[in-house]
Amino acid sequence: MNAETGRPTPDLDLDRIRADFPILAQEVRGKKLVFLDSAASAQKPRAVIDAMVTAMETQYANVHRGLHWMSERTTEAYEATRDKIAVLMNAASREEIVFTHNSTEALNLVAHSYGRGVLRPGQAVVISDMEHHSNIVPWQMLRDAHGIELRVAPITDAGELDMAAFEALFADGRVGLVAITHMSNVLGTLTPAERIVAIAHAHGAKVLFDGSQAIVHRAIDVQALGCDFYAWTGHKLYGPTGIGVLWARRELLEEMPPFLGGGDMISSVTYAKTSWAAVPHKFEAGTPAILEGIGLGAAIDYVQAIGYPAIAAHEAALVEHALARLSAVPGLTIFGRAQQRGGVVSFAMAGAHAHDVATLLDRQGIAVRAGHHCAEPLMRRLGVDSTARASFGLYTTRDEIDALAAGLEKVRSFFA
Ligand code: ALA
Repeated sequence: MNAETGRPTPDLDLDRIRADFPILAQEVRGKKLVFLDSAASAQKPRAVIDAMVTAMETQYANVHRGLHWMSERTTEAYEATRDKIAVLMNAASREEIVFTHNSTEALNLVAHSYGRGVLRPGQAVVISDMEHHSNIVPWQMLRDAHGIELRVAPITDAGELDMAAFEALFADGRVGLVAITHMSNVLGTLTPAERIVAIAHAHGAKVLFDGSQAIVHRAIDVQALGCDFYAWTGHKLYGPTGIGVLWARRELLEEMPPFLGGGDMISSVTYAKTSWAAVPHKFEAGTPAILEGIGLGAAIDYVQAIGYPAIAAHEAALVEHALARLSAVPGLTIFGRAQQRGGVVSFAMAGAHAHDVATLLDRQGIAVRAGHHCAEPLMRRLGVDSTARASFGLYTTRDEIDALAAGLEKVRSFFA
């Protein structure tokens, strides 16, 4: 059932979907591949692969520069993705969509441009205790260079944002920006975006969501969320690597100074003075990731054709199944029990290091990520140095989760 519409959500035709992803038919180490590492990077459907190959074979030149046919066609194809993203996120206009190379660059863009250009020394930036390093380190750099205070909102033992403690961070009126994950890449927790925005805005602070994980699992409507910035990356949404997105309210983009300087981001250059191109191009210096942009457009078409309600319902069922199956494996601790969550489950096995768990699963053809997941402060909060993590995509099946549970039983016997 779709919680928003109250209508039943269609089941995904998983056989057809899996046939769209050529890599999933492969065997690894003589075993059927069970790919449970989509949160690190998702696999690519044939439509994305074909879009990029077709562009290279038939319509490829640099964009925004040429007056010739090839450049015009390539520019159209590349810029069409900006329109698709604007629709995907319900942006007020296509000019609010800035192409970056990944989420990390999008977050750095806000830290460097909005952070140095608009925030004032003495103001504070609030992050949470479940951030990826890409939403910690840029703010530390801003703190050290620009006199910004970094405040960390704690999480509960269930892995949810502690809302009372979060709100208390605003008491002195110095918070200028909240930069927070919309879905934890370790715990799967979906943060309460609307409440975060309401609290921040009530105290005069802007809100930036790191949506790298969330946009894979649920529809993002930036106007309904009411946030100010939203960052994500293409390769987790079944698109290519090397292309990411920053959405920001147009008036903020107008106010912000450029991040990188170079070609394409100017309107005129003299040695004495340079003036900037209109937004969003002011933030897009240099030849962009053209083929990757075209590939991302195909990925968005693919996701939209399936539809977020069906994807979200499928993944919610997978998470429920995974929590039930993995909870029954003796000696396994699952991290994060948030009420609202996406398709990521982190765990540890008593007496076995996460790397060993992942290696032994790999021998069975099962791919999971193990380590600190670029979230060392969160590992400290959880009291571990690493976890193993299974993450799901729209192509993941219940059988694969059963294979993981069976694989973990074998790992357990090995260590017993
Ligand atoms: N941020 C990606 C992950 O969580 C790489 O695996």
